[in-house]
Amino acid sequence: MSMREKIFAANWKMNKTVAETEAFFQEFVNYPGVGRGHGVIVFPPATSLAAVRGLVGAMPIRWGAQNMYSKDSGAFTGEISGPMIRELGCSHVLIGHSERREIFRETDEDIREKVKAAHKHGLIPMLCVGETLGERKGGQAADKVVRQLAAALQGVPASEAARTQFAYEPIWAIGTGLNASSADAQEMCGLVRKQLAQLYSGELASGVPVLYGGSVKPENIAEYMLQPDIDGALIGGASLQPSSFLSIIKNAMGSRFSAS
Ligand code: PGA
Repeated sequence: MSMREKIFAANWKMNKTVAETEAFFQEFVNYPGVGRGHGVIVFPPATSLAAVRGLVGAMPIRWGAQNMYSKDSGAFTGEISGPMIRELGCSHVLIGHSERREIFRETDEDIREKVKAAHKHGLIPMLCVGETLGERKGGQAADKVVRQLAAALQGVPASEAARTQFAYEPIWAIGTGLNASSADAQEMCGLVRKQLAQLYSGELASGVPVLYGGSVKPENIAEYMLQPDIDGALIGGASLQPSSFLSIIKNAMGSRFSAS
């Protein structure tokens, strides 16, 4: 078991109105122990960020946006910028989620600019990488992830790479109920670290968080946590209910979860 902090991140995607966000936190704040001895980050839709700031209260949890544009301001209708989400108390921002890449056609260059902009504004980018089912079946999963990492980090100095967090999310496992085996997830999270060691240094690679995402549930989280290169999970569907998000954290932390 590594010394890196374990991290559980909730990606709500395009779910929850402000009223539903309030309902989530009204229940979630009653769970003692959440965020103590591990990291919890909630990524609500942008419309709920201001509410989350008020609802978190004394809970030791952080929040972030699911996306941002790389420019600070200007004629970019529909976009939100780093300064805007920073003002709402965000510590993090998801960058390069596969739904952004696949549905909204974000390119490697777009993602690189966003990573740089996040750092410029003191936000921690959680950079998502992962292969399609076709790429996995064709034996190209490793190449895809190595290429995505190299492209997103081109020109990013070590000081910023060291403040970046990573999520390996195989696209075929997202929202499908078909989670990657713990062995496959370990292999790919290990590969992320190997690539970071090549691009930067072994020290940097062993210091950054690498999460697994894709159909993580209370029933399968424990096996991932046994893997040396997996530091936690980025959770979509199973993070929408406070009780199942809590169960994931509890099952992941085992006896290290203390509700007192
Ligand atoms: P899922 O989503 O847990 O619903 O598979 C994960 C993600 O997209 O981050």
